[in-house]
Amino acid sequence: MKIALLASGTGSNVEAILQAHEEKQFDAEPAFVFSDRPNASVLDKAKRYGVPVHTLRPRDFDSKQQYEEALLHLLEKYDIQWVILAGYMRLLGATIVEPYARRIVNIHPSLLPEFPGLDAVGQALNAGAEETGVTIHYVDAGMDTGEVIRQKRVPIMPGETNGSLEEKIKQVEHQLYPETLQNLFRKGF
Ligand code: GRF
Repeated sequence: MKIALLASGTGSNVEAILQAHEEKQFDAEPAFVFSDRPNASVLDKAKRYGVPVHTLRPRDFDSKQQYEEALLHLLEKYDIQWVILAGYMRLLGATIVEPYARRIVNIHPSLLPEFPGLDAVGQALNAGAEETGVTIHYVDAGMDTGEVIRQKRVPIMPGETNGSLEEKIKQVEHQLYPETLQNLFRKGF
């Protein structure tokens, strides 16, 4: 079963999935890594694992729909069954969401529905929350609104900084994402 990984930035979650695959803990085949940012360091990580990379810059297209049609063409060309978002910083439109309904998964650094959107870690700190966490969810047309698949809590300690909290969250993510996807694909829904 083939999956595509979509990311815009560092790609530590992509790396965790590629590592799990290399260690035979993750059965689905990461067919390619896609980024909307040609300089994203996730692309170097993918190449280190020998995984093909593709990039498309939205600004090279006349509309979001045309950009997503090009992305959809890539997904179809590789016969991709699941689309995995890991720090992909764009809202997916109907061009992708409709044909891949309940076949797109995202990871978000909060306990959704709390703190959706950008800077979820900063939002939790600013709100004075005592805990936040990680959510893995299906993607629909909204911003972090799709059905929750799995969540895990992360406590916020006194004196916590943005950096320390982000690090704790990422540690949880790197374990939770490959494991949850593996279970999801095995159950086949
Ligand atoms: C992660 O915290 C993820 O939850 C969010 O974006 C971040 C991506 O980090 N959607 P990385 O690029 O995987 O390091």
